[in-house]
Amino acid sequence: MSGHGQERQAPPLRLLIVCLGNICRSPMAEGALRKRVEAAGLDRLVEVDSVGTGSWHVGDPPDPRAIATAARHGVDISGLRARQLSAADHRDFDWLLCADPDNLQAVRASAPPGASARIDLLLEWAGQGAQQAVPDPYTGGDADFERVWALVDRAALAIVGRIEAAQRPVATGDRRIDA
Ligand code: 4NP
Repeated sequence: MSGHGQERQAPPLRLLIVCLGNICRSPMAEGALRKRVEAAGLDRLVEVDSVGTGSWHVGDPPDPRAIATAARHGVDISGLRARQLSAADHRDFDWLLCADPDNLQAVRASAPPGASARIDLLLEWAGQGAQQAVPDPYTGGDADFERVWALVDRAALAIVGRIEAAQRPVATGDRRIDA
């Protein structure tokens, strides 16, 4: 929108988190990132969604173990519903952030001609180390879900920190001008 006073709002950064089923890792990552974004007051600057590369669980709520894990950390993800990655996602989001290398390969293979979204591993993009994967907890137990939460929440914290840092580029400049 233009011509409305002097308020200038950067376009939102649109992040889509991708795993296989969209019932374990990516909904937990979505919940963790949403909570961190809201706590930092960045909800107008960052949009977060999640999908799966597979279709088995489309329409399902997150796995009960994922819901319980998020709830232990104060985040309610019970209202989320799984959906499958679509061609439109490749243009509607800025970044498709994948839980593991298999997801990354599937997302790359599904990119339609002219796709604009960039594709990376979630943890690598969040600065958590090259080639780092969020391990699939589906056949695991509570400890595996807790480990996923720790990984995705640390990534969420790092992402929010980076966005916050990018939001305050003028502080030193202001001081210099005022001096
Ligand atoms: P997610 O976990 O990719 O983290 O949601 C899985 C969920 C379902 C299946 C595999 C992984 N599945 O084979 O149905």
